[in-house]
Amino acid sequence: MALHGDRAPQRRDADRASGNPFAILGDPAIDQTINTPYSRLAADPVPPEVAYQLIHDELMLDGSARMNLATFVTTWMEPQAQRLMAESMDKNMIDKDEYPQTAAIENRCLAILADLWHVPDPSVVTGCSTTGSSEACMLAGMALKRRWTRRTGADPTRRPNLVMGANVQVCWEKFCNYWEVEPRIVPMSGERFHLGPEEAAARCDEDTIGVVSVLGSTFDGSYEPVAEIAAALDELAARGGPDVPIHVDGASGAMIAPFLDPDLVWDFRLPRVASINASGHKYGLVYPGVGWVLWRDADALPEELVFKVNYLGGEMPTFALNFSRPGAQVIGQYYTFFRLGRSGMTTVQRAARDVATSLAARIDAMPQFRALTRGDQLPVFAFTTSDDVTGWDVFAVSRGLREHGWQVPAYTFPPDRTDLAVLRVVCRHGFTHDLADLFLRDLERVVADLESGAAARTGASGFHH
Ligand SMILES: Cc1ncc(COP(=O)(O)O)c(C=O)c1O
Repeated sequence: MALHGDRAPQRRDADRASGNPFAILGDPAIDQTINTPYSRLAADPVPPEVAYQLIHDELMLDGSARMNLATFVTTWMEPQAQRLMAESMDKNMIDKDEYPQTAAIENRCLAILADLWHVPDPSVVTGCSTTGSSEACMLAGMALKRRWTRRTGADPTRRPNLVMGANVQVCWEKFCNYWEVEPRIVPMSGERFHLGPEEAAARCDEDTIGVVSVLGSTFDGSYEPVAEIAAALDELAARGGPDVPIHVDGASGAMIAPFLDPDLVWDFRLPRVASINASGHKYGLVYPGVGWVLWRDADALPEELVFKVNYLGGEMPTFALNFSRPGAQVIGQYYTFFRLGRSGMTTVQRAARDVATSLAARIDAMPQFRALTRGDQLPVFAFTTSDDVTGWDVFAVSRGLREHGWQVPAYTFPPDRTDLAVLRVVCRHGFTHDLADLFLRDLERVVADLESGAAARTGASGFHH
């Protein structure tokens, strides 16, 4: 949203006249001499230190990203990773001809993910990097839709549909809207907060392009039972019903499960899984924006979706919504894989899960709260107020925590559990046991204030997934 009315410089002439040598950092009244551009370019340039300092200072209003327990997105990387990313900031990912080594590194990351996700033939990896999981999901959804069109013929009287739980991230609603696919949403029910196998199979028909299964859910961090969903779809096909592929939205979990749950079968080991996406910038431990999508084999990605672009003398296959895109994040992903290796990734993810399970247990032990998930799948958990709490609600807790600097979203669950309002904590690398102790202390203070009536006690928030 634009803020109108540029602030007029009040001291510029006086300053120019005095030639104030402190007119940059040391001048406490610096911004009175500058016309901060809110809606129009200023007439003249300003020195780089001035532009830097004033924008840097404004950004302090964003609060501390490390205390943001709402986001799944990486908020800390090592200085060496930052240096490498700064060095490759000028590389355009699409210019594979000009930056062949960046392209080779992207392919190494894809091969590493193909290995982690058990692609049947690792010698032919079909996949690409993206700006994040949303773009990756769009591409995977398009492939599913195109495969359905091929199967059924381009019959304008038929309408494709996609089956998913009400807990899917908003990118799937976007996909359905943008690509004119009917969303078949399975509502939550009772204590089932994500997609169940029977519910998924019951909604499939000959026009179902696929089932989306989420590992794990944005709403509460739980893993959906991908193997059971696959088994229910196997059974449906065996009974003569439609043969429906699965896309696993592993935005977060596809970077957790390979390290912490190696025996959980959720990936290409299931023949029904056609494609998988993950966010490099979530538990892939890279600053935003990088995502990944892989198909089980070349057949799962209709060839006509892949453009062969003749670009400055080279021919390159691309499947993407964007054209130009920064290369730095892909380099950051490779740094993380290279630096940590399998055991390092396992240690980092385990540390996040340990903090999540221990914090969820301690919050659950408070008489005022009930944990809905325990942080033992994604290092993420949701909790709500106990039945005997009536005078205040989760929204007041979220507001109270904000006053202590913590950002913890409060929101109601989707249908059919819109009656249930929760708080969610995302434990990421860098949120240590020490910080979790301090968070718990602040949560106890917020509760004490609410119980004594010292703080506003109810009210909704505008949090969106
Ligand atoms: C399950 C799931 N899918 C997709 C997304 C969208 O991911 P991105 O922000 O990388 O576009 C998210 C983001 O939270 C998510 O949790």
